[in-house]
Amino acid sequence: MNLTTPYLGLSLRNPLIASASPQNAELDHLRRLDDAGIGAVVLPSVFQEQLEAGANDYASIGAACADVPEFLAPVDGGPYGLIPESHLALIMRAKAELSVPVIASLNGASASHWTRYAALLEEAGADALELNLYFVPVDPLESGAAVEQRYLDVLAAVRQAVKIPLAVKMPPYFSSIGNMASRLVEGGADGLVIFNRYLQPDIDLQRLELFSTLELSDAREMRLPLLWIALLAGRIRGSLAASGGVEDVEQLVKYLLAGADTVMTTAAILRHGPGYVRTLLSGLEAWLLSHRSRSLEQIRGQMSWTRLQKHDNYVRANYMHLLETYGGPQPK
Ligand SMILES: Cc1cc2nc3c(=O)[nH]c(=O)nc-3n(C[C@H](O)[C@H](O)[C@H](O)COP(=O)(O)O)c2cc1C
Repeated sequence: MNLTTPYLGLSLRNPLIASASPQNAELDHLRRLDDAGIGAVVLPSVFQEQLEAGANDYASIGAACADVPEFLAPVDGGPYGLIPESHLALIMRAKAELSVPVIASLNGASASHWTRYAALLEEAGADALELNLYFVPVDPLESGAAVEQRYLDVLAAVRQAVKIPLAVKMPPYFSSIGNMASRLVEGGADGLVIFNRYLQPDIDLQRLELFSTLELSDAREMRLPLLWIALLAGRIRGSLAASGGVEDVEQLVKYLLAGADTVMTTAAILRHGPGYVRTLLSGLEAWLLSHRSRSLEQIRGQMSWTRLQKHDNYVRANYMHLLETYGGPQPK
């Protein structure tokens, strides 16, 4: 079955993308993803802190990255310890060995000279660039408008540095997600990854210390991105990649029905290995066949806001009904 999918102006053999993860810094892992049929791969991010700290200064890179809760401080030799030069070599090797597009990733929060590194990623051969905008506005005096402008400024600086397609991995924390999504596309993004996953710190009650753990997602996490993919599909220019909570083929199909152009997964591949890509893709084909669909286009966006003509379940009206009819927790 033809699963060919356009994404950011690239043509992918299918809509499944391996999102950024440390394993994607290993060539052997990337080869196995390619063999299993993945549509594209995203390499682990290069961080603003890495670039600002200077290529060989691991101590300060570690200290800077410790403020970014999703990621642990880079370890010498680990994927986030890859000095920027080695990262460029990784892109070159991946490009030489893989049959699918290689998407590089930059992670930052404010525009400054580090954004020029994007041009080196392009020169090394990256087919596209994913810009992970990760910023926690801890200062209560920084307004929502200022935070939004910060993101648009980073995007503008990176856009200026490269010609390759650019996706923004955006967080869900805006008062008007749709408006921010449109402005990012107007500001030069060829597509959006919905959403970036922020992890929140917890408190250790014995030691009275803060700690962060990186727990892999499960399917319950897909509801928010699913909602926003459905609300945005067909209503903004640019590609939409769904990210978060893919456990098995059900989530893959739901995201496509909501209108995602592509679907990303990290957790499923970390849990089951790169061979699981084959299981997901054959599951997708089987689902399409069992629903008498001969192509992806037949189902893509079938459950989006536009196609369902502004369905009540996507808006507030349904909220009251749900509260009124709630029957309590189901006995186990
Ligand atoms: C161990 C680990 C490392 C990650 N590294 C990156 C990274 O370098 N850059 C990035 O944008 N996202 C990174 N992510 C986030 C994933 O790309 C993805 O957005 C997140 O895991 C949610 O998707 P999932 O539910 O499919 O796992 C990482 C996730 C994990 C679990």
